[in-house]
Amino acid sequence: MTIVRKATSNDLPAITEIYNQAILATTATFDTEPKNLEEQKVWFESHGPKYPILVSEEDGKVTGWASLSKWSDRCAYSDTAEISLYVDEKSRGKGIGRKLLEAIISEGEKTGLHSIIARIVEGNEMSIHLHQSAGFEHIGIMKEVGRKFSRLLDVYMMQKIYKNNTL
Ligand SMILES: CC(C)(COP(=O)(O)OP(=O)(O)OC[C@H]1O[C@@H](n2cnc3c(N)ncnc32)[C@H](O)[C@@H]1OP(=O)(O)O)[C@@H](O)C(=O)NCCC(=O)NCCS
Repeated sequence: MTIVRKATSNDLPAITEIYNQAILATTATFDTEPKNLEEQKVWFESHGPKYPILVSEEDGKVTGWASLSKWSDRCAYSDTAEISLYVDEKSRGKGIGRKLLEAIISEGEKTGLHSIIARIVEGNEMSIHLHQSAGFEHIGIMKEVGRKFSRLLDVYMMQKIYKNNTL
């Protein structure tokens, strides 16, 4: 039975392990070097109450995480966040990503965000499908902005706007 809950700093080793798997094995993130716990602590603490981080947990083990991070340091962007969504490679394809996605969208609405941006690497059809079915719309493609594993990569941009959070 999977539960989704707010992340605490005690979850950082598990969050980091899951993220590092994706850094090393996939183009889902454009980070190329594994993160250490010091870096992850800074990342965690940069999320105030407005920018949530959630984890999924099964039998006491963290299986995935999702975050809404500040899109830009420029203040007029403060109601816009960027989403991250990662599931442990052994737990993918079982509905955990969808659960995390739905929960983080709901959390962002509660904290008063107006808009969420998703930057999804070309070809990540699973992620595009999930975001689309959670109400994200395609807003454009950034051509050849990344290079990983010796390949130039496009980024498929998606956005969700909370119609209720307009003020
Ligand atoms: C993308 C990711 C977060 C999804 O989490 P997950 O737990 O594996 O996904 P779920 O099981 O909840 O849902 C997968 C959905 O994609 C669908 N899917 C699977 N393969 C697909 C494909 N090739 N094309 C389109 N849809 C696909 C499934 O049918 C399911 O949709 P449904 O619920 O409508 O049937 C996870 O696979 C992951 O961490 N991948 C590596 C990192 C990553 O890509 N992160 C996203 C960065 S933007």
